[in-house]
Amino acid sequence: MAAKKSSTAKTSPKRSSSSKKTVSRKTSKTTAAKASGATNPHPAPVLPAWHVAPDSTKAWKRLEKLAKKGASMDLRQSFAKDRARGRKFAFEALGMHLDYSKNLIDGEILDALFALASECGVAKHAKAMFAGNHINVTEDRAVLHVALRAPKGATIKVDGHNVVPDVHEVLERMERFATSVRSGSWRGHTGKRIRTVVNIGIGGSDLGPVMAYEALKDFTERGIECRYISNIDGEDFYEKTRDLNPEETLFVVSSKTFTTIETMTNAQSARAWALAKLKDPAAVAKHFVAVSTNAAEVSKFGIDTANMFGFWDWVGGRYSMDSAIGLSTMVAIGPENFRELLAGFHDMDEHFRTAPPKKNLPYLLALIGIWNRDFLGCETVAVLPYCQYLHRLSAYFQQLEMESNGKRVQLDGTPCRWQTSPVIWGEPGTNGQHAFYQMIHQGTSPVPCDLIAFAKPLHEIGGGDAKSPSHHDILLANIFAQGEALAFGKTPAEVRAEGTPEWLVPHRTFPGNRPTNTLLCEKLSPRMLGRIIALYEHKVFVQGSIWRVNSFDQWGVELGKVLAKRIIPELVGAAPKPSHDGSTQGLIARYRAWRAR
Ligand code: F6P
Repeated sequence: MAAKKSSTAKTSPKRSSSSKKTVSRKTSKTTAAKASGATNPHPAPVLPAWHVAPDSTKAWKRLEKLAKKGASMDLRQSFAKDRARGRKFAFEALGMHLDYSKNLIDGEILDALFALASECGVAKHAKAMFAGNHINVTEDRAVLHVALRAPKGATIKVDGHNVVPDVHEVLERMERFATSVRSGSWRGHTGKRIRTVVNIGIGGSDLGPVMAYEALKDFTERGIECRYISNIDGEDFYEKTRDLNPEETLFVVSSKTFTTIETMTNAQSARAWALAKLKDPAAVAKHFVAVSTNAAEVSKFGIDTANMFGFWDWVGGRYSMDSAIGLSTMVAIGPENFRELLAGFHDMDEHFRTAPPKKNLPYLLALIGIWNRDFLGCETVAVLPYCQYLHRLSAYFQQLEMESNGKRVQLDGTPCRWQTSPVIWGEPGTNGQHAFYQMIHQGTSPVPCDLIAFAKPLHEIGGGDAKSPSHHDILLANIFAQGEALAFGKTPAEVRAEGTPEWLVPHRTFPGNRPTNTLLCEKLSPRMLGRIIALYEHKVFVQGSIWRVNSFDQWGVELGKVLAKRIIPELVGAAPKPSHDGSTQGLIARYRAWRAR
């Protein structure tokens, strides 16, 4: 994490001097703190020759020429001309069927996209990631979320040190802890069982755990509820704790850095809230555990590091839901299901690492995304899961994609001459159909959609015979219908043929040719969720490699944090001398005036 200190937690691997790097540097002795500070950062990286700017490749130039054809492609004609198109542009692996045939692509365009990935050295970059090289060049760190789900006997080295045993040591500690909470052997300070686990964290220390808790609700121990406090807004804290009994509540303070103001403020408030009833400071040990890379800050907070679950600076916040950050997930679904979740991630890691690009789900999704973004000019992507359990998936992908690839400069600091991350947004279907799909069907800006569903429901409600559809049949009919309507639309001639008066025809016409991917998976399970998340993680990787940005830093979040720190005392102390622009100064004055009333 940029501008935050990383320290070596008990479980952190030691760095050896035999550092393997993707980039060469004058010195390898660079601390993360230095890397994030304004002074004395590590030397500028020398990028490998294969890390080329995408617009310097032959494939990019070819794609620019093909863009005209793509923009004027008619999917009705394409499907009519090629009866095999639906099959040709679909791929299945790991119980996931990806149909990408309803995109504005053809064989020639796809070939050029694969050539682009090859010319941009995506496979070499992936190899460097899996090898533990410091591909996060602005923070001089390895990027190894894949090590979090590597099987026990595997070897993945960071600076010469095999981190897999460390990962499993933490996992085993998590398992013992989760089991004790679930079984009731872990008791609160007054001897009561834990009934609610409250995760306090934000960004990557919140979005993944919430998403997974909601997605896997059906696999959770229903006698223990998990809640998630993230916002600094006290209303979040109030609402999530107002009906809880501190004697039965366990807080998991989750923060990679343990310095994030929202999390630390909420954690302090939780401590005060718990001690108001429990009185004895010794109660903290029974009601607070920490997940962090920063042991020093954890003990400063008053949490015994024996109750801390560590991870490492080579795990980015938004790539950390399968690290100890997933502790609340493990308590909820149990260690066995958590292992299944990890196995699902690993399935996809192996698929990504070994399958040829043309038969590789992350490559396919990524390249189609690049086509839509850079050559067809689409500015947003809607992620539309037809599964209520996945109702937080789009929010999770928002951080994953936009914090990773929402960058405007290349690895070498020169401006990107191409577009990078689109806006990611979405809500589950069918709810969205009654809210914003109007714009997707008939608005002026095409919105590529990822439609995601499961063939088998976890709960079959209704139906029962061939004539009466179940809820799930209706749900799935809707997702298929949306893909069909978006691709093929409704022509003015068809609208007229229904007897529509001429003046209404344009209003009732659907232009079609709106791109969609449909990801149909067999059934939602911890394993399948792991596969889906890793699919998108690697999609983001492929896109970031081609866009030649650092997908693993997030300097763009820093300025606002610094300015907020400066403004805080100006809101609560004596009236400050004007030191801001006229607008900000005016807002501060108005706030102070209304607060003083
Ligand atoms: O401010 C952005 C960010 O650094 C995210 O990248 C991260 O997931 C989040 O804040 C939380 O950080 P931490 O886990 O260190 O509290």
